[in-house]
Amino acid sequence: MEVQKTERGLFRKKNIAYIILAAEQGPSLKKELNTWDLTMLGIGAIIGTGIFVLTGVGATTAGPGMMLSFILAGVACALAAFAYAEFSSTVPVSGSVYTYSYATLGEMFAWIIGWDLMLEYLLSVSTVAAGWSGYFQSLLKGFGMELPREMTAAPGSIPGVTTYYNLPAFIIVMALTYLLSIGIKELKRFNNVMVIIKVAVILLFIIVGFSYVKPDNWTPFLPYGFSGVFQGAALVFFAYIGFDAVASAAEEVRNPTRDLPKGIFFSLGICMLLYVVMAAFLVGIVPFSQFSGHENSPVAYALQVAGQDWLVGIVSLGALLGMTTVMLVMLYGQTRIIFAMSRDGLLPKFFSHIHEDYRTPYETTWIIGLAAGLLGAFVPLHQLAELVNLGTLTAFALISVAVIILRRTRPDLNRTFRCPGVPFLPILAILVCLFLMFQLSMMTWIRFGVWLLAGMIVYFLYSRKHSHLNQFHDQ
Ligand code: ALA
Repeated sequence: MEVQKTERGLFRKKNIAYIILAAEQGPSLKKELNTWDLTMLGIGAIIGTGIFVLTGVGATTAGPGMMLSFILAGVACALAAFAYAEFSSTVPVSGSVYTYSYATLGEMFAWIIGWDLMLEYLLSVSTVAAGWSGYFQSLLKGFGMELPREMTAAPGSIPGVTTYYNLPAFIIVMALTYLLSIGIKELKRFNNVMVIIKVAVILLFIIVGFSYVKPDNWTPFLPYGFSGVFQGAALVFFAYIGFDAVASAAEEVRNPTRDLPKGIFFSLGICMLLYVVMAAFLVGIVPFSQFSGHENSPVAYALQVAGQDWLVGIVSLGALLGMTTVMLVMLYGQTRIIFAMSRDGLLPKFFSHIHEDYRTPYETTWIIGLAAGLLGAFVPLHQLAELVNLGTLTAFALISVAVIILRRTRPDLNRTFRCPGVPFLPILAILVCLFLMFQLSMMTWIRFGVWLLAGMIVYFLYSRKHSHLNQFHDQ
């Protein structure tokens, strides 16, 4: 067979033909998804906390220039999306950027990326769960109900208030885990309905908000200069995270080389358009400085200022649904990445076991779900959104490097989608990602460093020895 399997050393790579072959011959996932489903999956993962919650801090950081922050963050994602699209049309297997880098940058980088993606996916589920819980409780209050305070938040997350755990956050993650564990078909149906509702809510806000926008509120446009815009961009970047999860669905797509690039671009493009308009309207309805003190519910606040209180409940519901699908798709992406890492031997084998009836990685789904739920329930995570951004930006930069490398090492591969302007466009992507990364705080970098160090320890103590690439040498 022409499939030459491996090299030695830390940078040993997997052969692309072998990756595809292994995916075809190994335990298989059900193929259920098309372009429409992928676009919905992408929007499902994208629209959530970022637009419904972080726009409050975004407005106080960048002023009306928040519109530019959304554009800049969107451009960074769009540049990386080209790399994702090329890879997903070339190597359509589970594991997304982790698998792509295994073929190009070598095992150690692949491991680092996989480990890094855990930070993105797992932590974002827990972070969004805490935000979900906040919106859920305010909705309950609207009906005159209140949970005992001890079970409303993780310990230490509200200064001066004794809380033990965040029950709603835990329950929502468990409910979604159940849904995921029983199958992709169910996920698809549930996700599609929720996405339609949340997009409708945003459109409703835009239509109703239109007549309340006062262009005067857009001046001064850059009260904190471009540095405010850049910091705002590094923050609201969170709002776009998730389009990359589309690529992790590769093995469940009927025609992956054609549909994956489309799904990635459609979902990102639609969200970018909605975000920029919504950001412009938010700071057009409310003078930006008035958002301080209303950082947790900026959209609801803007509606109150516009005197449209009737919409507040509807928007809160939209926010809740929005965050629900974000958690769902992120959880899904995380299980598929762990599945791929385990199939390669870098994680224990039971992580890639597939349930006979449901054809899902059942045990992995429950383990990941429990971990995300417990983190959301017991750990105050609100400061960690920045860490998710740093992890994701790193992955985006690395996948852009990988595109350049693969073009040189394997120019012969059949690429249904080709990233234009290689190497210039990927280099631009890397530079924009690095620029945004350096807007983040020192503390975030230190936390990131600690996480990577932990990853390296696991790699050298376990994964390197158990990697399936070792076995090929023994044969
Ligand atoms: N983009 C996702 C959100 O904003 C992570 O919630």
